[in-house]
Amino acid sequence: MSSRHLISVQDLSKAQALGLLSTAKELARITDGPNKKLPTLRGKSIVNLFFEDSTRTRISFETAAKRLSADVINFSAKGSSVSKGESLKDTAQTLQAMGADAVVIRHGSSGAAKRLADTQWISATVINAGDGTHEHPTQALLDAFTIKEHLRADAQDLSGVHVVIVGDILHSRVARSNVLLLDKLGAQVTLVAPPTLLPVGVTEWPVEVSYNLDDVIDKCDVIMMLRIQLERMQDSYFPTEREYARRYGLNSNRLSRLKSTAIVMHPGPMNRGLEISADSADDVRSVVVDQVKNGVSVRMAVLYELLGGAPINVEAGEKK
Ligand code: CP
Repeated sequence: MSSRHLISVQDLSKAQALGLLSTAKELARITDGPNKKLPTLRGKSIVNLFFEDSTRTRISFETAAKRLSADVINFSAKGSSVSKGESLKDTAQTLQAMGADAVVIRHGSSGAAKRLADTQWISATVINAGDGTHEHPTQALLDAFTIKEHLRADAQDLSGVHVVIVGDILHSRVARSNVLLLDKLGAQVTLVAPPTLLPVGVTEWPVEVSYNLDDVIDKCDVIMMLRIQLERMQDSYFPTEREYARRYGLNSNRLSRLKSTAIVMHPGPMNRGLEISADSADDVRSVVVDQVKNGVSVRMAVLYELLGGAPINVEAGEKK
């Protein structure tokens, strides 16, 4: 990686991104076997610094770190001295004083992870686990890994794969990171959303834009449904949830028009009945559970690369 931090997908070249996916695949092969734990990061401490709620990202970073034998400290802003007004700087320095080698940060403010990495507040490696509406690079990596495993396992990259990303693009750090990474890896991306849920400047993104899901549903290889982020909406972005579901939701009628080889993705948490119907979420083409599983291997690869773990003997599942 170009730096010792991972803040944005833009920190990665195409070769580095593909290298991470390849390392993740090797790690998955090892940890799918009887020997789930590697001694690679023994003696390292990793802090999960979460100022926003999370299920998948926090737990998978914790699992990834433990599988590499690192020590893990979980910090949640709820119930901490943040509620007494303690700043990001003081919180981070407190955790650094306890010996953190890496800080995995999720924060509601776009740019929080970069600020932590750019200032001299702490010397630890910083990994962005989602900052406001900006980026979520490890989600994009696990999504690319999942797409590659299902559709391009033996190919160099994702050339020729058509990915349609549907929904609340405006508030989605997942969409931004995915667009950047999928484009880097050669995929074609179409965004589908009401005009109110597209960011200013989307015309500069390397994507096609459509306002009509029915125009593209039968042409894509991947359909990625995004959560409607009601908690980030101060205004009314669509008339009613029912109207949104009717125009932009993945329902049984649209599901029947998807290619038989297409895959259905969602980063979670899902609003079943709003952006995705229960039968779509549970369809045989849904890879939502795979995304979660792959998140562990991809985050292991990121921690391994950034913290300079000892080389792995893939055959033996042991340190060389
Ligand atoms: N996809 C994702 O970031 O999920 P969590 O909010 O549960 O971490």
